[in-house]
Amino acid sequence: MAVRIGPLFLRSRVYVPPMAGVTDIVFRDIVRQVDRHCLLSTEMVSSKGLLYRKESHIMDLAEDEHPIGIQIFGHEPEIMANAAQMAQARGADFIDINMGCPVPKITKGKDGCALMREPELASEIIKTVKAAVQVPVTVKFRLGWDDNTRNAVEFGLMVQDAGASLVTVHGRTRQQLYSGKADWSFIAQVKKALDIPVFGNGDVFEPQDALKLLEIAGVDGVAVARGSLGNPWLIPRITKYLDTGILDDPPHEVERLIIAFKHCLGLVRYKGLRVGTSESRRHLTHYTKGIVGGAVFRNRLTQTSSVEDALNTLSDLAEHVDGKEGRHRFLLAVENDYLEYCKHPGEGTRNSKHGVHAPVDVDAVAPVAVP
Ligand SMILES: Cc1cc2nc3c(=O)[nH]c(=O)nc-3n(C[C@H](O)[C@H](O)[C@H](O)COP(=O)(O)O)c2cc1C
Repeated sequence: MAVRIGPLFLRSRVYVPPMAGVTDIVFRDIVRQVDRHCLLSTEMVSSKGLLYRKESHIMDLAEDEHPIGIQIFGHEPEIMANAAQMAQARGADFIDINMGCPVPKITKGKDGCALMREPELASEIIKTVKAAVQVPVTVKFRLGWDDNTRNAVEFGLMVQDAGASLVTVHGRTRQQLYSGKADWSFIAQVKKALDIPVFGNGDVFEPQDALKLLEIAGVDGVAVARGSLGNPWLIPRITKYLDTGILDDPPHEVERLIIAFKHCLGLVRYKGLRVGTSESRRHLTHYTKGIVGGAVFRNRLTQTSSVEDALNTLSDLAEHVDGKEGRHRFLLAVENDYLEYCKHPGEGTRNSKHGVHAPVDVDAVAPVAVP
């Protein structure tokens, strides 16, 4: 049976949840090119920040990327409701409220996972946001603050009573940050207690992990964050495996390098050369993870400061993995995009409209290393 977020019927059980500094419009476009129906979300947006900077680029949505949610964070109900209205006006299919972010910069107020210690305030936020918008409201949280206060079941019931249409539960506590293993059986307790759909989250890096999480937790869908870094194909591979039991191989390494270059080019086109290349570095190294003998090329990629740097290193790497034929295939596949870019290098399409702003210091948000 299709999963529903309120009136919205989903055509997929796979969700790429918010990742600050990652799930921008360029990353999501890459995901959409390989998976038409998975659920998507923006990076988190500061509700307070929106009071001063109404045109946040984090809320830029493309026409063809629905269904997509905009995630907001904060702890003041009226300010959150205002942010939710802005997100709705920007075209969000649902508003996701962040009650799981563990980063001290966020939790030291009452934002993110700190709200799991303030269930009454959390309830008021959800009710106020819900009353302010017509689109459904969802909430993302963890198992609790620490092992002594794992309150995800009670918290989930509160979230449901307050009017949320779906929850995503990351199977770790705030104290764990990203250490240890996600506890999928605790997520099962949340699923058992709630009537609204529950998405399980944490440590899905292969299609088989997704199936195991579904089986253990009995959840309605899976949210896959770090596993999708440099590996957007994981999403359609999971979908196919869940739907048919067929396990597709990951794409050939040269295919990965082609998409890596297109991702880099997309970031430069959207954010301008300096920000685009700087943000590309982490993505490029993710795309090349696991390539035998790739360390020296990855090292070069961490210093990328122009589109040509990326082009040269990736074509050298294509030759490393597949000889002259690999280089040729790579260059042929990216040629048109590169030539188009050279005609209009520009300063980044988003800069032509407004300023450039990250929601928080993204390097401080979370480790992105894929185990
Ligand atoms: C770089 C990065 C940024 C993240 N930013 C957010 C965020 O903005 N909002 C949020 O709710 N979760 C955020 N998360 C948490 C993920 O959505 C997810 O809950 C977590 O990584 C566990 O799932 P995984 O094991 O599939 O990575 C972030 C995670 C990473 C790695």
